[in-house]
Amino acid sequence: MKGLVLAGGKGSRLRPLTATGAKQLVPVANKPVLFYALEQLVAADVTDIGIITGDTADQVMHAVGDGAAFGASITYLPQPAPLGLAHAIITAEHWLGDSSFCMFLGDNFLGGGVIPYARRFREQGCAAQILLRRVDDPSSLGVAVLDGDGRVLRLVEKPLDHISDLAVIGVYFFGPEIHQITPLLKPSARGELEITDAIQGLIDAGYHVRAETIVDDWIDTGKKDDMLEANRLILGSLQRRIEGAVDAESTLIGPVVIEDGASIVASTVRGPAIIGAGTTVRDAYIGPFTAIGPACELTGCEIEHSIVLEGSIIRHVERRIADSLIGREVVVERSPLRPQAIRLLLGDHSRVEVV
Ligand code: DAU
Repeated sequence: MKGLVLAGGKGSRLRPLTATGAKQLVPVANKPVLFYALEQLVAADVTDIGIITGDTADQVMHAVGDGAAFGASITYLPQPAPLGLAHAIITAEHWLGDSSFCMFLGDNFLGGGVIPYARRFREQGCAAQILLRRVDDPSSLGVAVLDGDGRVLRLVEKPLDHISDLAVIGVYFFGPEIHQITPLLKPSARGELEITDAIQGLIDAGYHVRAETIVDDWIDTGKKDDMLEANRLILGSLQRRIEGAVDAESTLIGPVVIEDGASIVASTVRGPAIIGAGTTVRDAYIGPFTAIGPACELTGCEIEHSIVLEGSIIRHVERRIADSLIGREVVVERSPLRPQAIRLLLGDHSRVEVV
């Protein structure tokens, strides 16, 4: 079985963070969300992996390389435009050949990995296997309707009316039969060749489509709160590891990772929390479920349940920062200038909440 990981598309929901960057490379617990998908495929013995790329192909290729670091062999498959998940399969058709494959959306995070699902798909030999999960509000997702025996009757992309609370998650298994259906698809109202329509096509053509309703943690990391939730989940199983320097005036509580070259001075870090390589934390409090990226500087501030990306500076901010996603090379600091005011230089689609 091959792997097909989707890392093209647009990251419009995480703007401005992903205005120019790949949304699949936004780090969760200091590791790009895409890397979890690659690691989980390799863990399920799927090592021949194609990655669909779009405008951000250079960044993705730079981050993942030839796949040797993951124990995988990577082939990059440029998609001319983000024309839909089923279009991504058309893009990969030649490379896939008659192989079955696991398609993994590069912005999806699946808590327990894919090993049991890959095993059952290999055993059952069906045309497709989809994973479903009950969610409170499925209106922004693909949704499945099952019959009394658990067979898939119908799939609808982002239904306007409530038809089911079973969301289709972004990990799919396909046999080569899918290539008979994709050429027949028509663009949906949002102008995409929908994967839900492709799977519906398999059902309508009489093929066996298996569905498993899973209870594992699953997050579509498209929005800020989803990123924070994925961060919380991963940090929840963090093992303590101290490679950087911690001075005698500092206290580390619980599962804390201090990466190489980081320096903690007169501060408290209450885990689970991770402090990236080369970051300095001084006279500060880092609270639970916080991931501070590499080469940051945090001085005289308090922060918890947040993600801070590479190279950012937070200095002398009196109020505790919480539930925040702070991008690369951002500066948040108290200013001595008069008149006292909040001075902002924010990118398009930024969001600031002040008290
Ligand atoms: O997250 C699960 C949902 O993913 C499913 O429930 C939906 O049925 C499915 O259509 C999909 O919905 P989204 O609207 O959330 O998909 P999104 O546009 O965010 O794309 C998912 C990933 O695939 C993302 O990493 C970008 C990449 N992509 C997307 C498109 C449209 C591509 O590589 N090429 C594309 O053409």
